[in-house]
Amino acid sequence: MGANARLIDELRRTRTLAATELRELLLTMDAADEEALFSAAREVRRETVGDVVYLRGLIEFTNYCRNDCLYCGIRRSNARACRYRLSDEQILACCDQGHELGLRTFVLQGGEDSGFGDDHICALVAAIKERHPDCAVTLSIGEKSRESYARYFAAGADRYLLRHETSNPAHYRRLHPPELTIENRKRCLDDLRDIGYQVGCGIMVGSPYQTVDNVVEDLLYMRDFEPHMVGIGPFVPHGDTPFAHMPAGTLEDTLRLLAIVRLMLPEVLLPATTALGTIDPTGREKGIRAGANVMMPSLTPLDVRGDYLLYDGKVGVRDQAADVMRDLEERVEAAGCGVDLGRGDHPGFGDASA
Ligand code: 5AD
Repeated sequence: MGANARLIDELRRTRTLAATELRELLLTMDAADEEALFSAAREVRRETVGDVVYLRGLIEFTNYCRNDCLYCGIRRSNARACRYRLSDEQILACCDQGHELGLRTFVLQGGEDSGFGDDHICALVAAIKERHPDCAVTLSIGEKSRESYARYFAAGADRYLLRHETSNPAHYRRLHPPELTIENRKRCLDDLRDIGYQVGCGIMVGSPYQTVDNVVEDLLYMRDFEPHMVGIGPFVPHGDTPFAHMPAGTLEDTLRLLAIVRLMLPEVLLPATTALGTIDPTGREKGIRAGANVMMPSLTPLDVRGDYLLYDGKVGVRDQAADVMRDLEERVEAAGCGVDLGRGDHPGFGDASA
């Protein structure tokens, strides 16, 4: 038995631990603990949401961004980024293709691009919902006013992804330019939840200057916020950013955090991210074995897909969507799960396709 068997068992039963216990667990976990943690995460997933992995079609529709986050390859001061914006026709064609492939959630992700005003976003969301009323639309377009979020929701958006990145204010300041604050980020997340979205927050694992205490704070923040979705992937350096020479987050740390989040929030929608597949060839399968249950194949047109680079080495930038789908399905099965092509709403929400 591992040194922390009792803590892992307590985490599973009570869905939480004290900050000091989480710290202890993260700092002293041995190989036997890790096995126990992953297998507890799989069991909790099986008991609560089943051994299925949901696929979300990702449309990276603009890489223009007004922000200058120090870790991100599409930060505004990266003059080497090759900028693009998809037209409405291109975005709708991506959705049509995804629908044809069986996908029932489309995630519109982009930088904070003033070239896409609120009217435009609302028109896009409405057009997608009109063509594909059986689908969920997820937005991932950054920090906006409460009014803007309310307008997108009224236009038909169902979900919103906005990682909080780190809940510690001092750490947040080391990763972001001064005009971005954790207070506003949390305000956004609170507004999104109030308005009625299914909301996702999350962090990068091993981001520069991250300490174990930061991670504990993030886990407790997520436990208290109770997001519907949690995005957790390793930090991967991008060569044209100030963090070019910082080390990447590790597979091991990422898998442990995925499993802990599954135990804290049993019903959460938890992706095995592309970044995880980038630091290890079988990283996403391992993520599923640690409790993840979502994957996000890219529907972004191939001629620009290689320009949406938040970090170096991103996998899948040359593969046709249909091939990516088959590849992911194989990975899901290799990890002992089955693909579910339904909308995959959080159990707390009605599932329109059920
Ligand atoms: N490495 C890993 N993840 C990154 N993101 C941005 N830059 C990087 C990077 N260099 C993540 C952030 C953001 C999400 C869209 O991508 O967490 O919220």
